[in-house]
Amino acid sequence: MSKDRIIYEHMEAFQSNNDFFQKTDTDKISNVDPIAIFNEFLTSKRIFKNKDVLSSSFVPEGIMHRNNEIATLSRIMAPSLLFEGISNVLVYGFSGTGKSLVTKFVAKKLASSAEEKKANVLPVYINCRLENNNTEYRLIANLCAVFNINVPESGLSVNSLYKRLVKTIDAESTYLILVLDEIEKLIQHAGDGVLYSLLRLNESLKHAKIAIIGISNNIDLKASLDQRVRSSLNPVEIIFRPYNADEIFDILLNRSKDAFYDNALNEGVLRKCAAMVAQEHGDIRKALDLLKVAGERTQQLGKSIITEEELDTAAESLEQNITEGMIKSMTRQSKCILLSIISVARTKRMGKVYSGEVYDAYLKLSDKFGLKSLTFRRVSDLIADMDYNSLVMSRIKSHGRYGRTRELNIAFSPSIINKAELIIKEELNLAN
Ligand SMILES: Nc1ncnc2c1ncn2[C@@H]1O[C@H](COP(=O)(O)OP(=O)(O)OP(=O)(O)O)[C@@H](O)[C@H]1O
Ligand SMILES: [Mg+2]
Repeated sequence: MSKDRIIYEHMEAFQSNNDFFQKTDTDKISNVDPIAIFNEFLTSKRIFKNKDVLSSSFVPEGIMHRNNEIATLSRIMAPSLLFEGISNVLVYGFSGTGKSLVTKFVAKKLASSAEEKKANVLPVYINCRLENNNTEYRLIANLCAVFNINVPESGLSVNSLYKRLVKTIDAESTYLILVLDEIEKLIQHAGDGVLYSLLRLNESLKHAKIAIIGISNNIDLKASLDQRVRSSLNPVEIIFRPYNADEIFDILLNRSKDAFYDNALNEGVLRKCAAMVAQEHGDIRKALDLLKVAGERTQQLGKSIITEEELDTAAESLEQNITEGMIKSMTRQSKCILLSIISVARTKRMGKVYSGEVYDAYLKLSDKFGLKSLTFRRVSDLIADMDYNSLVMSRIKSHGRYGRTRELNIAFSPSIINKAELIIKEELNLAN
């Protein structure tokens, strides 16, 4: 068949179907008008004056309710201004209790005081959560960069980095105060030997000094360090106690003034938010998130005042996100164990369950999902991890069929249980 003929046949088909094209269903053409949505947004009732103020990285003008902590840290750091040795420090406390804020604040004041008094004290803040800082090589290379020491892309050993660092800070007679935030992440990735190596540099330094201020929310950190690291660090420990509801209220009120328009929030809602967060170790970051999500929802609903109801909904959706995130990141074995806990709890109308019954259910489910069955002891350990992550609450109870028995309760809200179950089943099936 010639090429022309093929084209002709196609044209025929096109013409004979012309009617068909007339029938194009215009309803199916998208009639959403972005401009209308933009205008609606611009003319809607405004809730946020500046939403960025609610982000946890925003630095507030004033720090509230941390006088003792600020004073203690400042007193410890002060002798460095006269080049006298200072103690190393470990700052502990639950999440969102102001550890990073306060430590950075004091370090910044120390730097400005040192500049004014012409003392060569240099606080350097490093967040070890960032991948770029969490190995020994990267950490020391970043420190070298602070002192403009040239570090080639590759080819240098950590030892030669240390040597260059020592040479430079000694030549400059610097008192280096190293603030290692989320220090447990560095220890996890690089081991605690890096702290030892850093502190040992003091022995080679003739004119310079190094001190470490570590920040962590793991109160057992010091105990977990190698004996030799612990004794060379020999830290003063500062514990940031959780804020109470009144303190949280004050902090939120101060922040809200810049974040929300007048009247968008009332005292009752702020007090409720503070009380909710005070029940769980007083995490200010969580309180700020709650206010942000509640404000966004209020705005979406076209309302101008955040109500307690919006706050409740925000709490539920935040909890759901956190719980979902945690469940998704669990291993298949832990997912299977959590599913066993949920299924046994269901048979008891969500009342307490015992680890023995959970184990029996787990043996069946692990078989169903093609998982190797773990021992009772191992399952108990994994349940203890879930307790640590606040997914379940467990209490050692008595000696049961398998030895030590735990009494368990699911710790997340009933409204999330169905969703949690669904996610676990989906993920276990998918991986099969
Ligand atoms: N006393 C305070 N006054 C004002 N704002 C505060 C205070 N404490 C904490 N905040 C605010 O709460 C948020 C969390 O504080 P920060 O980051 O210092 O907590 P953290 O203890 O370091 O938590 P994490 O262990 O999770 O790192 C920040 O936005 C901070 O500005
Ligand atoms: Mg922090």
